[in-house]
Amino acid sequence: MGDYSTPAPETATFHHANDQPYSLQHNHLAACRLNLQHYLWREVFQFNLHPSIPIPIPNPTSTSTSNSETNPPLIADIACGTALWLIDMSHQLPHAHLDGFDIDLTQAPPPQWLPENITLREWDALTPVPADLHGRYDIVHVRLAVLFLSGRDVDPAPFIRNLYSLLKPGGWVQWDELDCVRMCVKKITTTPSSFSSFSCCLGGDDTPALEELRVACSADGRHDWAVGIAGMLEKEGFVDTRTEGFDEKDELVRAFGDQHLLTMGEFGAKLGQGGKVKAAQRFGVLVEEAYREMVGRGAALSIPRVVGVGRKPVL
Ligand SMILES: C[S@@+](CC[C@H](N)C(=O)[O-])C[C@H]1O[C@@H](n2cnc3c(N)ncnc32)[C@H](O)[C@@H]1O
Repeated sequence: MGDYSTPAPETATFHHANDQPYSLQHNHLAACRLNLQHYLWREVFQFNLHPSIPIPIPNPTSTSTSNSETNPPLIADIACGTALWLIDMSHQLPHAHLDGFDIDLTQAPPPQWLPENITLREWDALTPVPADLHGRYDIVHVRLAVLFLSGRDVDPAPFIRNLYSLLKPGGWVQWDELDCVRMCVKKITTTPSSFSSFSCCLGGDDTPALEELRVACSADGRHDWAVGIAGMLEKEGFVDTRTEGFDEKDELVRAFGDQHLLTMGEFGAKLGQGGKVKAAQRFGVLVEEAYREMVGRGAALSIPRVVGVGRKPVL
């Protein structure tokens, strides 16, 4: 986090996003990538809500005299993108109400096409929490905030304090992120018994484009703070914190690899729109070459995931 040097214009690196509030796009391609990503992540996690978080049950209303009058549990998704996590959760918890927030809701369905228990609202999560949302939620979920929290001057602490402030006392946060520390290029290895499996390889002699993309994405550890989510939550007052890592099985390495190339292409395109033409071109070339390496060598860029959870204490 913090002060990253300005890279050479033709270098492929995520440092080029230093002056952008968000380094990916808002369009149909970006929406498709997010939707694919949701299903892939769910396949790896096997949950939407981390099993350590108690499933919320309806709360009796303060004025209720019978058990049938209840308030629905309230769940928020911050930076909700296409709203697919919320849609999935609305089926899992039909008795809950789910609110999605994003700085740009153009990738989400119109309200008329959403389940009745979902509401979306525009909010820049780096600005103070609106007064009506303080202490409102039983659960707050975030996925993939890393690309708007890793800028040159962005400090994630106020964002975490916002998550804290959205929660009721006793409420839980779940934050899903990329694990760029364990990011690697996976390649098939053939053993004498001709059994093929993936292994993580450092050094890219036979996959130079994938290796250059790995280094570009790593960007001198720019996103590495995300593996320490539990510690960051604890520092801002959360308790019962933990971070769990999730790698993909071999059978999904290729699917993730293709999806990462989409992200790299989108990142490059955004740089091009911002006038960084040479860097954008470099990303474009690398994505094409990396695809050829992926097919020809049996290799893929792999970026595992972490899930951080924590509870706001009951004071
Ligand atoms: C990589 S996408 C992830 C979307 C969604 N969480 C998912 O996993 O599919 C990041 C999202 O963050 C949103 N975003 C960027 N800056 C933001 C900000 N300051 N406040 C709220 N949302 C923001 C973007 O519009 C985008 O929808």
